[in-house]
Order: sequence, then C-alpha cells, then structure tokens
Amino acid sequence: MYGIVNKAIEELVRTNHGDETWKKIAHAAELQAPVFISNEGYPDEVTYRLVDAASKVLGLPPDQVLAAFGEWWVLKTGQQEYGPYMKAAGRTLPEFLDNLPRFHDRVIMFLPDLQPPSFSTRDAGPNRITLIYESPRQGLAPMVMGMLQALGKMFNTAVTITHTVQRDRQHDHDEFLIEWSATA
Ligand code: HEM
Repeated sequence: MYGIVNKAIEELVRTNHGDETWKKIAHAAELQAPVFISNEGYPDEVTYRLVDAASKVLGLPPDQVLAAFGEWWVLKTGQQEYGPYMKAAGRTLPEFLDNLPRFHDRVIMFLPDLQPPSFSTRDAGPNRITLIYESPRQGLAPMVMGMLQALGKMFNTAVTITHTVQRDRQHDHDEFLIEWSATA
C-alpha cells in the first residue's frame, strides 16, 4: 500500500496516544526505516504488522484498531489531505455512497499504482443501501465499518451499519447494510 496509509496510522497513534507509544509500536512492528513516504509503495505486510503491533501495545483487539483507523482515514486524512475529493463525492450520505464504487477511480489519477478495493451497491429500500465490498486483501472489513461510521459523522447523519455477509469459505466478499435517518 502507499506510504500515506502507514503514515496515517502513525499520525493517529501519535495524536491519540503520544510519541512514546508510537516508538513502541514502530519497534514492535520491526520497521526498516523510521519514516514513511506518502507516494511510495510498501508491502501490505508492513501495514498488517503495524496494526498487529498497535493492537498488542495498546491492548486492543486488531478489529478495534482497524475500525479506529478507518474512522481516522475518513475524518482526518480524507478531510485534511483530500478535502476537494471528499466534497466532490457527494453532498449527503446517500449521494456519497452512490458514488463510492467510482471513488478510487479519481484517486488513481494521482496515485497511479493504487490497488483499490472494489465497492458496488444494491438498493435495499428507502433510506438504506447494501454495500458490497471485495478486495484481494484479507481482514479489512472492520476498517470499512469504521469508514462508514465516519461518513455518517461527516454528514451529520445518524447511521446504522450491519455486517450482513462476512467473507469466509462460502463468500468471497463482505456486505454491509447501511441505514440512515430520513432527513439525510
Ligand atoms: C480521498 C480519500 C481517499 C484516498 C486518497 C484513498 C486512498 C487509498 C489508498 C492509498 C489505499 C491503499 C491501497 C494502495 O495503496 O494500493 C486505499 C485503500 C482502501 N480504501 Fe481508499 N481512499 C480514500 C477514500 C476511501 C473511502 C471514502 C473509502 C470507503 C468508505 C475507502 C475504502 C478503502 C478500503 C477499504 C481500502 C483497503 C484496501 C482493500 O480493501 O483492499 N477509501 N485507499
């Protein structure tokens, strides 16, 4: 993954838990270099090692670390570094979700080696939608949950997210039912 992802994990830890905690996590993850470069590619394994190390050092389950990171990515990294892209994707939560399947197409324009996940949507009735998430990577569904919760916050919209299909031996993808308040 691009270094921006690992850098965002570092920022989240430094902001919420302090520089000393970051040092412990970086050490536990056996990082080769002390700094991440945003637009350089790193093996996915580095990101997984960071999540694992953060989970051990902070004493939190890995799923909770991933969810917190997903939230941080949307509310901090997304808004601060890529504000115009986030804005262009929709003025309301349902609009943004409609556009999500095409979101990373625009990101590829400035990060050409991006290997994005694939999102698609299925109508589920009034004020709800099913989001289908497919990825060559394993185990990141909790991060998607965190991202979706954060989108609710970003649009000031009460949202309920249910992980309706879990990727396993029978299913090659995850599905989420997203329900929002009628005023969105
Ligand atoms: C401007 C905002 C965004 C940028 C710049 C961005 C960029 C990226 C980057 C760099 C990666 C790592 C993949 C790689 O380096 O090859 C990634 C992965 C991912 N992105 Fe985005 N993204 C953005 C917004 C979103 C949003 C809004 C969602 C969904 C709510 C999302 C969902 C994901 C997921 C789930 C992954 C993990 C990769 C996987 O599942 O295979 N991203 N994105």
